[in-house]
Amino acid sequence: MDIKVIGVVGSGNMGSGIAQVAAQAGFAVIMRDIEDSFVQRGLNAIKKNLERAVDKGKIGKKEAEEIVGRIRGTVNLEDLDKSDLVIEAAVEDIEVKKEIFEGLDRICSPDTVLASNTSGLSISEMALATRRPDKVAGMHFFNPAPVMKLVEVTKGAVTSEDTFELIMNISRAMGKEPIAVNEAPLFVVNRILIPMINEAAYVLLEGVASAEDIDKGMTLGANHPLGPLALADLVGIDVLLAVQDTLYKETGDSKYRVCPLIRKMVRAGHLGRKSGRGFYSYQ
Ligand code: 3HC
Repeated sequence: MDIKVIGVVGSGNMGSGIAQVAAQAGFAVIMRDIEDSFVQRGLNAIKKNLERAVDKGKIGKKEAEEIVGRIRGTVNLEDLDKSDLVIEAAVEDIEVKKEIFEGLDRICSPDTVLASNTSGLSISEMALATRRPDKVAGMHFFNPAPVMKLVEVTKGAVTSEDTFELIMNISRAMGKEPIAVNEAPLFVVNRILIPMINEAAYVLLEGVASAEDIDKGMTLGANHPLGPLALADLVGIDVLLAVQDTLYKETGDSKYRVCPLIRKMVRAGHLGRKSGRGFYSYQ
């Protein structure tokens, strides 16, 4: 299938990042969120990223304008009706995602392929909310999407080989390196990464070391580009909670229980960089 128009559902950190990557790769993009202020925030983030790239001489001013020109924002899901592929990047809530997939299935042509950027929820469950479960797959980008090279491409229980290959190829066309993943809670990278961050929160909670020293330990002792707590702030503490909770619920294994500090921070609205405060302050 020839993909020309890509719809993106969600204009947050991930949605806007994915929209930027798709537009940079030459696709026409329609980015949808539920409120106009969210859409505008997403569009502004993209513009800022591109301005930075222009300032650094990585792309020309005209090219940046052309990229922005390929992205249209909307609050209407119906505006995604001409999409050849839709990438859903809404909140990590299976009920919300199922509702979106059900809506997309109604609106889009029967040929349109539907993908989810979920961090680890079930692709099969989302697929079964549609009448085209063979045309649904996981397409999981990493934060920040314009920078991180990896895309996990996940087959649900009934994803067709054609759909899987198409998502692998579109990921490559977007300049990314895809890896093939069979459906399992949290896929590959988050299954390993998120429990590590959760463990770092326990280390902090138990008073073993300060946040700064935990992060220093992992950057200097394990060569991670960012310490686990700084990474948690980048990913979002609410996302972290949802993702780790999925792993715990899906496996029933107590070793995956969420660190109470994470839950407490979410209840306090300390969500990381996006709220100005997480393990660190960004005021
Ligand atoms: N959007 C776009 N570009 C960004 C960006 C953003 N939010 N943040 C940084 N960049 C770009 C910068 O412009 C710069 O580009 P250049 O090389 O072309 O000049 C480049 O990234 C490096 O940025 P900086 O020099 O400002 O800062 P760092 O050297 O600290 O790099 C980083 C930033 C690449 C984000 C680095 O800190 C890093 O690799 N962090 C780890 C990220 C990571 O592990 N992500 C995975 C999270 S888990 C996840 O996403 C899964 C989810 O499901 C939970």
